[in-house]
Amino acid sequence: MLLKEQSRDGVILRIVSVTTGLGDYMNLIVAVDRNWAIGKDNKLLVSIPDDMKFFRETTTGKVVVMGRKTLESFPNSKPLPNRVNIVLTRDMNYDAKGAVVVHSKEELDKELEKYNSDDIYIIGGESIYRLMLDECDRAFVTYVDYAYDADTYFPNLDEMSDWKLAQESEEQTYYDIEFYFRTYTR
Ligand SMILES: NC(=O)c1ccc[n+]([C@@H]2O[C@H](COP(=O)([O-])OP(=O)(O)OC[C@H]3O[C@@H](n4cnc5c(N)ncnc54)[C@H](OP(=O)(O)O)[C@@H]3O)[C@@H](O)[C@H]2O)c1
Repeated sequence: MLLKEQSRDGVILRIVSVTTGLGDYMNLIVAVDRNWAIGKDNKLLVSIPDDMKFFRETTTGKVVVMGRKTLESFPNSKPLPNRVNIVLTRDMNYDAKGAVVVHSKEELDKELEKYNSDDIYIIGGESIYRLMLDECDRAFVTYVDYAYDADTYFPNLDEMSDWKLAQESEEQTYYDIEFYFRTYTR
């Protein structure tokens, strides 16, 4: 990861971190609307097949980290297939078949040490994105150009000076919905 770029007498110095496993940064993946809203009544704001496909293809075979409410928003509250599912809850009796349950950030950090950070994807919802944002350096953001009625939000990366828009797709459409696949890095 690029930590710092300095220009001295026209010479660009790049200070980069060496991949060490522990302490490396993770990925996050989210679909936001024009106001960076992400959900309402524990559901997604909109379901776009190409976005679902992108999510599935990006996270299959990887480790996905989510809050208890997001797990319960999935069909039959079942973990996502073909992925290691890690679920956060403060409920010590919570049982989620097929998922690893952790009860605190400390427990989560310990669990995540088992995996290569490149393979870890924070998948929501709001509370987990906020908890983990500082530990991510790549964000896959599906930006849907519409303002929905919402009750949960993602921090606006366009207003955060350390995050930069690195890539944006051509405009995509699904019926009358316009959306873009964006990658932000920091
Ligand atoms: N647009 C997107 O890409 C996207 C992606 C994912 C989710 N969403 C949406 O986001 C909304 C849900 O977000 P949310 O913030 O309400 O819920 P959430 O983050 O999915 O889950 C919240 C729960 O996680 C647990 N938790 C949070 N922090 C914890 C900590 N430090 N230690 C232990 N447990 C912790 C708590 O569970 P307990 O209450 O059991 O203790 C908490 O109630 C839904 O509308 C969903 O559809 C959108």
